[in-house]
Amino acid sequence: MYFDSHAHYDDERFDEDRERLIESLQEKGVDFIVNAAADMKSCHTSLALAEKYDFIYSSVGVHPHDVKDLTPADIEEMRKLATHHKVVAIGEIGLDYYYDNSPREDQRKWFKEQLLLAKELDLPVIIHSREASQETFDIIMESGVKKGVIHCFSGSYELAKEYVKRGFYLGVGGSLTFKNAKKTVEVVEGIDLSHILIETDCPYLTPVPHRGERNDSSYLKFVVGKIAEIKGLTEDEVASITSQNAKKLFQISL
Ligand code: NI
Repeated sequence: MYFDSHAHYDDERFDEDRERLIESLQEKGVDFIVNAAADMKSCHTSLALAEKYDFIYSSVGVHPHDVKDLTPADIEEMRKLATHHKVVAIGEIGLDYYYDNSPREDQRKWFKEQLLLAKELDLPVIIHSREASQETFDIIMESGVKKGVIHCFSGSYELAKEYVKRGFYLGVGGSLTFKNAKKTVEVVEGIDLSHILIETDCPYLTPVPHRGERNDSSYLKFVVGKIAEIKGLTEDEVASITSQNAKKLFQISL
């Protein structure tokens, strides 16, 4: 039923009960998960999860928070890891000008390098963008990368249209259920469901009514419920269409 297009089950907040939790997800309707890497260590820990569980896939990539220490050797290592059959994307990569944990110059440099890698390997990208909407868009367009998802899309409806016109998907998660989600609601209203993926970003971004707790893929039902309400569709239709979208993007043919 559900395809969680963005999760972090290798995060330490799952250390206590990771196995038990993951093993309970399929009976709660979670059919597929893409676990997103965020630093060099998690490129390995994320891929290890994908090797352990059939229904989990992995990306490799380094989040803008952590690019300040990247080296060309790390890109080489990612290139090697990305040949694994359970690696379906490069990500999460992008720009974060809200936290600025890495200098902006480094963020731009390594974002471009990782886009190049995705293009070379013909893999879709998983994009993280915060307070850098236009620049993220411009750098992706300049790179020539033509497939990917803008994870936790928080841009305007106008920008959303520009992305989907070019074949990109928009990731929608728990923040759609928050009180201040007006902009995201507008995007979901206006963009055809064939361009939308659902995601948790767990352990983060837990949807209402569980906001503040640890998130997991079973809570996707609240995101699906909200999209169904906005679109005037059934929850099954939303789950099924977004699942097909994700399979298409990540080339999973099960
Ligand atoms: Ni994430």
